Amino acid sequence: MNLQIIIGSTREGRRSLQFSKWIEKTAKENKNLNVELVDLIDYDLPMFNEAISPRYNPTRVLTGDVKKFLNKLNEGDAYVFVTPEYNHSLSGVLKNALDYIANELNKKPAAVASHGSVGGARAAEHLKMILSECRAVIVPINLHFNHFIDGSIDEEGNLVKELKELAYGPHTTVNTMVEELVWYAEALKIAREK
Ligand SMILES: Cc1cc2nc3c(=O)[nH]c(=O)nc-3n(C[C@H](O)[C@H](O)[C@H](O)COP(=O)(O)O)c2cc1C
Repeated sequence: MNLQIIIGSTREGRRSLQFSKWIEKTAKENKNLNVELVDLIDYDLPMFNEAISPRYNPTRVLTGDVKKFLNKLNEGDAYVFVTPEYNHSLSGVLKNALDYIANELNKKPAAVASHGSVGGARAAEHLKMILSECRAVIVPINLHFNHFIDGSIDEEGNLVKELKELAYGPHTTVNTMVEELVWYAEALKIAREK
């Protein structure tokens, strides 16, 4: 089972990196999962300008980093999309990447992990609508992290002890989110193969 964590910020000094590493580290505790960070910084995706919407373009020819990115997404069985909140929405770089998607997420589960002053809740709601239009199945448990990231998660993705031990805190939510993704990924894989 391949779980991909898509890092939705590429700016210098981005906090989304350590945030994503924490999710990766937690998910890796499930030994049945192959967990991979998909970092948008590794893909040179120009501003989307294809003449035809990807989902309605059967003769679409993919090249370069767009092809590399979409092939990578194709390998996923389940996804966590990480977004910061920029101006009450998801990051532009993530929205642009999502606009390239045709059927790569089709009938596969996706969760949203957001951060910001209100846990990135506004960005998360926008992102869920977009992912749904990209044909992903949004799982019910999503993560909204409203703690100061620098004081909460170190560069290697370790969550501070107080938050790790907090009842109903972010550590519990991440674990539940991963459990949900696994449940849906297994069920949907069987259904897709039928
Ligand atoms: C252009 C811009 C707009 C932002 N707008 C919001 C916002 O609307 N709400 C919020 O809670 N934080 C906002 N922030 C703060 C970011 O959520 C915070 O800087 C976060 O660390 C960004 O994620 P990143 O470091 O991974 O890029 C904004 C930051 C930037 C750079």
